[in-house]
Amino acid sequence: MNFYRLTPAQLAMFGHLKSGEEVANHGPLGLGQVVSTHSHSQAALYLVQGLAEFNGGDTSRLLGIGQQDDAVLVPAHAKHAWTSRMDATTIPHVFGMARVEQILAVTEMITQTESYATEKLPGVRVLPLGGEPVSGIPQTVLVCVKNGCSIPMHSHHYPATMTVASGRARARTDDPATDGRWVERGACLHFAPGRNHGFEDCADDFSFVSINGGIVGKAWDLQLAA
Ligand SMILES: [Fe+2]
Repeated sequence: MNFYRLTPAQLAMFGHLKSGEEVANHGPLGLGQVVSTHSHSQAALYLVQGLAEFNGGDTSRLLGIGQQDDAVLVPAHAKHAWTSRMDATTIPHVFGMARVEQILAVTEMITQTESYATEKLPGVRVLPLGGEPVSGIPQTVLVCVKNGCSIPMHSHHYPATMTVASGRARARTDDPATDGRWVERGACLHFAPGRNHGFEDCADDFSFVSINGGIVGKAWDLQLAA
């Protein structure tokens, strides 16, 4: 048995599929009311609206309000039973793995609202990719540069590997092999601690993913070159 707490988007998909298909529903069940042991020829995804105890052979668990999970996927032919632990509990379910997967595959659209900036880099916005960036702790961030802006030559105490995600720019570095090179999507640059670098003539929404040792945070690790 697999247990889930359905996200709002998954609940919406559950409701959508349920309304368009022949589906079963246990309830409304009174407190203590039992749905006795049965099985189905197809897998079923049950959603508990209220509170109910699920019994599936050696697995027993409370699902619904106040619990960790509110849904269970019962495989085809697996025996299971329910006991309502709250008055007016309903347990709708959908059948068939194709339909179940359609619900479980729905992911939330996450809108990234928080971005980071430093007065040392006007026109530069940093979006964290995976959690809040903390100075000194390895992090992955997306760095977006306004068209026409530059990232002045600077260095860090931490190493950084950058992969250009969009647009183009001219790389600046005190490494003559790389200095002045145009970079665009897919280009990858690595800078060791203390190595000066920057970007000029940033165009076409220049952005890059930076995997680094901990540059962005409350106190940025960024020293402008003299
Ligand atoms: Fe940098």
